[in-house]
Amino acid sequence: MANSTPTVFARPLAGVGALVTGGSRGIGRAITTRLAADGAAVVFTYSTQAQAAEELVAEVTAAGGWARSLQLDLREHTRFDDVFTTAEQAFGEAGARGLGVVVANAGVAAHAPIDEVDGHEWDRVMDINAKGTFLTVQHAAAHMLDGGRIVTISTIGTAWPSPGEAVYAASKAAVEQISRVASRELGRRGITVNTICPGPTDTDLLRAGASPDALDGAAAMTALGRIGQPGDIADLVAILAHPDTRWLTGQVIRADGGLT
Ligand SMILES: NC(=O)c1ccc[n+]([C@@H]2O[C@H](COP(=O)([O-])OP(=O)(O)OC[C@H]3O[C@@H](n4cnc5c(N)ncnc54)[C@H](OP(=O)(O)O)[C@@H]3O)[C@@H](O)[C@H]2O)c1
Repeated sequence: MANSTPTVFARPLAGVGALVTGGSRGIGRAITTRLAADGAAVVFTYSTQAQAAEELVAEVTAAGGWARSLQLDLREHTRFDDVFTTAEQAFGEAGARGLGVVVANAGVAAHAPIDEVDGHEWDRVMDINAKGTFLTVQHAAAHMLDGGRIVTISTIGTAWPSPGEAVYAASKAAVEQISRVASRELGRRGITVNTICPGPTDTDLLRAGASPDALDGAAAMTALGRIGQPGDIADLVAILAHPDTRWLTGQVIRADGGLT
């Protein structure tokens, strides 16, 4: 029998332009690496860590992929148009058809009991996580090719409320609702919009807010007996970005190793 290995799966995103917010570190870095390995031309944003961004571009290039970085703080609302337009120009230089995948990943954590949260902190977290994701989805819709894929990143904290996470969970609940509504508004163009809710995932963000003992405790509560790695989330993003995942939209998917 002839070898029937489906080479079509080797680089499923060849010719596709992908934009990843917060792609310089943590989960976003793994997403950038994975989408580039799948053949996408990836433009990712970073906020402050230019060196980490440069290193990632070099790493992807050395692996035979294509990536460029752009600076964007999600609070700079007037810069979104420029970032998406610059990304489209870069896709042209890379020989990609246009913007086909957007991953709204950038976000910040916040830990404080409700009686300690002031208005400034509420505004900061909402501005970055909720409004930043809204503007990312809004501009994705304006710039994306029909048949595209939008993936947003929430948290398992919306399904499993934890003390100290009121503001963070509220900002991510907004992410989920924005995504559900966007799936209805963009569906007629063949664009899918799905949300991933990661459980505890080993990044700077997680380690800044949880002790090693707390992480061991969280690992013990999962079905798979460990906390997540950034690649666990990136691989799921790759599935949602895959052309074959065209019939899945408006979904909020818990990716937590069976924690909940
Ligand atoms: N790690 C977890 O356990 C976990 C669990 C659930 C959900 N999540 C969500 O997953 C996403 C990624 O988290 P992570 O753990 O990978 O975080 P991380 O390691 O702290 O990386 C955050 C990324 O977002 C960028 N960023 C931070 N503030 C920004 C701002 N104001 N504007 C634009 N970009 C900004 C950072 O850029 P710089 O490098 O330039 O600072 C970095 O690329 C977040 O939305 C987070 O809420 C994480």
